[in-house]
Amino acid sequence: MLNQIPLPNKGVILAVDDTPASLRLLTDILKAEGYEVRSAISGELALHAATVQPPELVLLDVSMPGLNGFEVCQRMKEQEQTRDVPVIFVSSMSDTQEKLKGFELGAVDYVTKPFQREELLARVHTHLELNRLRHRLEDMVEDRTRSLQISEMKLRANLLESISAIAATVEMRDPYTAGHQRRVAMLATAIAHELGLSQHQIEGLHLAAVVHDVGKIKIPAEILSKPGRLTELEFELIKQHPQDGYEIVKEVDFPWPIAQFVRQHHERLDGSGYPDGMKGEEILLEARIIAVADVIEAMASHRPYRPGLGIEAALTEISAKRDTMFDAAVVDAALRLFREKHYQLHS
Ligand SMILES: [Fe+2]
Repeated sequence: MLNQIPLPNKGVILAVDDTPASLRLLTDILKAEGYEVRSAISGELALHAATVQPPELVLLDVSMPGLNGFEVCQRMKEQEQTRDVPVIFVSSMSDTQEKLKGFELGAVDYVTKPFQREELLARVHTHLELNRLRHRLEDMVEDRTRSLQISEMKLRANLLESISAIAATVEMRDPYTAGHQRRVAMLATAIAHELGLSQHQIEGLHLAAVVHDVGKIKIPAEILSKPGRLTELEFELIKQHPQDGYEIVKEVDFPWPIAQFVRQHHERLDGSGYPDGMKGEEILLEARIIAVADVIEAMASHRPYRPGLGIEAALTEISAKRDTMFDAAVVDAALRLFREKHYQLHS
């Protein structure tokens, strides 16, 4: 006896018709072509079968007692599991209005009974192929999106690494402020979270804070590490660093105005800051946040010419200048962090 070789599975089709003879005919034609066929003799059973195990295509009779074909199609399009399954109506109603209604409900095709076997098979084949192509395209788009996201994450990580390396170079020349930028960045980020800034904004703020003093690379090392008070001329040189930092950072194409954040970190709300004497909300929020974090960290830490003044002195200072030099909301967020949430400057 010869072993019967099964035909390759060309697709899973749900055939629906309330007339047993019609359903049988449909099923036989499809099976003979190698399709895997499931059948349902009512709208309710069809909907149940399609929901439990979605087929690749549905051939759906229109006039049936109970749930008719239009209702089955409508429900299928409403639910997540069956929304994308293509539906072909197979009906003896050849009226144009009926056909239009079928398409409006989301069907991909409409075959009139009695149908030609070849025509039915051609339509089934076409819609199965179309649907598979669509799925493949969606998968490709998803894959591409994922790999783009991964390379963007790698790029961001590299960016942070390079920026941290630059920051470390600057701090190497200035042992008294080693770690200053990193601690400012952490505090600024915590304040931003407290203020409810978006993740994207916080990311840009963090990068800017890590390099906010990069312009100090142009200041002679002996001034940076000078143990005594600075002369007026020396102080003028130090005041150049936001502008110099801006010049260095503006060459890098960031998705945030990092160079502006760096340039504005010594600006004060009342116009008393430098280099541009900007006022109020002219100063970018990120720069207003770095300004507060910078002052708190600088006052709390040791300096060549004085010991650390402690966190309480720093908080008193920013409270006293709340709304004159420093942004009130930013100051309040910083105070909440230290006083209520027990935030500590990292060492
Ligand atoms: Fe600075």
